[in-house]
Amino acid sequence: MTQTNASSKINNSEENLPHSTQSLNTFAPRLLDWFETDGRHDLPWQQHQTDTPNPYIVWLSEVMLQQTQVKTVLPYFARFMESFPTVQDLAAADWEVIAEHWAGMGYYARARNLHKGAKQLVEVINQTSNFPQTLAGWEAIAGVGPSTAGAIMAMGLHKYGVICDGNVKRVLTRWAAIDGDITKSATTKELWALAVRLTPTEHSGLFAQAMMDMGATLCVRRNPSCQLCPLKADCIAHAEGREMDYPVKAKKQPKPSKFSNALIIKNAEGKTLWLQRPDTGIWGGLWSLPLQFVEKVEASELTKPSESQSQKLAVRSNDKVYEAEFTVAEQIINEWLAENKLVAESISDTLLDDAPIKHSLTHFHWYLQPQKLVVDDEKIAQLGEKLAAADIAFKWLDKQKACDSLGLPRAMIKIIQV
Ligand code: ADE
Repeated sequence: MTQTNASSKINNSEENLPHSTQSLNTFAPRLLDWFETDGRHDLPWQQHQTDTPNPYIVWLSEVMLQQTQVKTVLPYFARFMESFPTVQDLAAADWEVIAEHWAGMGYYARARNLHKGAKQLVEVINQTSNFPQTLAGWEAIAGVGPSTAGAIMAMGLHKYGVICDGNVKRVLTRWAAIDGDITKSATTKELWALAVRLTPTEHSGLFAQAMMDMGATLCVRRNPSCQLCPLKADCIAHAEGREMDYPVKAKKQPKPSKFSNALIIKNAEGKTLWLQRPDTGIWGGLWSLPLQFVEKVEASELTKPSESQSQKLAVRSNDKVYEAEFTVAEQIINEWLAENKLVAESISDTLLDDAPIKHSLTHFHWYLQPQKLVVDDEKIAQLGEKLAAADIAFKWLDKQKACDSLGLPRAMIKIIQV
């Protein structure tokens, strides 16, 4: 194979591209040769070695892999396939059961979209006797963006499809020294155009799988294995020793912090109250202890004589926070705590700087402070009536039962293990 000189931006007939036509044309064969000998061929969702690919398997795995690493996804994928071997099984499943299968993988909106997407797919299948067969058809399914749709077309149907996910963007920005901010739409457009140019019309599924492997195993974020790379001869970042300068991504704003009490309200039998969170918002549709979002304030703002002068920071509930963050159930619980004078002792003005649980979500760090509260039967019955009257889903369960039978977010598991 003739190799081009990567460091000089070669003139060629393909406007605005730094590589020669030959470089562009040999990209796919070089990558596919590497994939054949050195790529991964044993991932359970791979369909490139079968003549009858199953789009359900590719769709399910791609949604799981959108923000989660292969090694984390593997056991989850196996459990999903065991419990829901077909899209019809997934569509017909109760949300509770899906949430329980997903619990611990994070980004729960993906699980909700998976359930919604399964129902949409079954509708398409009932009307057409088949899975969607076009890119637009797949993009219409909840949770499926352009790259996931391209992956399903290519790998799940063995049709033409192009992918341009985070891993592919890293490979391409390095190879072509694309230095625009990848969070900007102009750069996204440029990267998609390059991905389209490089994707072969035949075997685009193999190419997609190979690109994913390249990004996941060689062209990794830190310490890429350039010596093993089939694209190193004309990788501009490599020629310039600037692999780590790509991709260019605007610095993220530091995440804000939020502080909450997580109420472990126990009845006389020692069972704890669990609430199902609303479908939208944090942990939508999952089960959680009642939360009390609290605001951190300087100790000097606190006036109660009991507060130690040595305290630098404290927290207090705040109406603004209350309105913005609490679910209806939590508002009912707060009122019930106040009515029964259970507030002062257990949940106010707690120092949270050393809260035992720090949990990082997409948009903020969350410090959770478990607070125990044992309540007599009469007050428990009163709370149950209030929650039932407001149509809130709640359960009283012991620790083990909650872990085994509810879809709990990872932070809740951490809390009940404290
Ligand atoms: N990341 C996203 N999709 C993938 C796939 N099919 N195989 C491996 N890693 C992936």
